[in-house]
Amino acid sequence: MKKRDFEALYGQIPEAAAIFEKWILIYANQAFRELFRLSGDLDLSWARLFPFSPQGYGIFEIPAMRPDGSTFEAEVVVMPCLGSEGFLQQVLVRDISYRLSCEEKLIQNERLAAMGKLAGEIAHEINNPLGGILLYSKLLKEDLGPESPLLINVEKIIKLATRCRIIAKGLLNFGRPESQEETLVNLNQVIQEMFSLIEDHRLFRQIKVTKDLYPALPSILANRSQLEQLVLNLIINAGEAMEGAPGELCLRTAFHQDRSEVEFSVSDTGTGIPDDILPRIFDPFFTTKKGGKGTGLGLSISHGIVKGHRGRIDVETSPGKGTTFRVYLPVRGVPKEW
Ligand SMILES: Nc1ncnc2c1ncn2[C@@H]1O[C@H](COP(=O)(O)OP(=O)(O)OP(=O)(O)O)[C@@H](O)[C@H]1O
Ligand SMILES: [Mg+2]
Repeated sequence: MKKRDFEALYGQIPEAAAIFEKWILIYANQAFRELFRLSGDLDLSWARLFPFSPQGYGIFEIPAMRPDGSTFEAEVVVMPCLGSEGFLQQVLVRDISYRLSCEEKLIQNERLAAMGKLAGEIAHEINNPLGGILLYSKLLKEDLGPESPLLINVEKIIKLATRCRIIAKGLLNFGRPESQEETLVNLNQVIQEMFSLIEDHRLFRQIKVTKDLYPALPSILANRSQLEQLVLNLIINAGEAMEGAPGELCLRTAFHQDRSEVEFSVSDTGTGIPDDILPRIFDPFFTTKKGGKGTGLGLSISHGIVKGHRGRIDVETSPGKGTTFRVYLPVRGVPKEW
């Protein structure tokens, strides 16, 4: 077979196809050239393109290396075919890096779900003794009377135990299976509760926090645990964008009576989002966080939650200066008293 024949055979197929002779590349179709970013002469050895895999026939999942040194995970089919001077190696290659990274993230996600369940169970165990501590310290407070010098210590116990209860309650909600139930939810309250869960986290230690919560914000008919998740995702992203450095976080709510909508916004003075990645931030599994720190699901889940409540989410960002995420949720079927 001549090069012309290879081109007639493989030139039109969309998969990356190539022919090797004695494991040296002698023909590559357009898709193969693009995948390996080949420019001039071929003459590359199998070992150069697939450094970690022995020469042999079959179907493999192996790392591939381009001449420019970049690598990707490949699915490779290697079959013998008859040339004019003996056997040649007919090779089909597909880049499976994306599929593998999705699989990896799905596994990671299942692990996270299992951890959420475990955290919920532990929180349940802690919640009951905490209730006892609170009850007995309140009884003690009553017994001591208002003049006692010990009162201040008992009040500290009550305050700290109450805080532990809020944290345990938050963990319990995480561990619970998702309910579809909608109730009247006050977004200001959700923000306060979720923020108190994480305000002591190292991410927020150097952050100046402003809460500008609209005092007469109407309650909305919504799934409370989903709104909690939405608020947490946005606040954590903001904290992560400031990377533990000094910065400002503003949590704001507003009521747009004309459109019958409540608004919740989170502004940070973090890294901002570069133009080239902005269109992808709501994609599932899209993350810029290295070392398994992010699953890339936070914003896609948040987007789903907002859509599920027939709302909108938008983002305004300035690279190097900061980012504001705004969520608008309709006030639906709410009694008149607000
Ligand atoms: N406030 C923000 N400032 C700068 N970049 C942000 C901000 N919020 C999100 N991003 C960018 O959007 C990407 C996707 O966010 P998303 O919340 O979906 O995933 P993640 O935070 O990376 O991971 P996870 O939420 O699963 O821990 C982030 O990796 C980051 O690059
Ligand atoms: Mg996130």
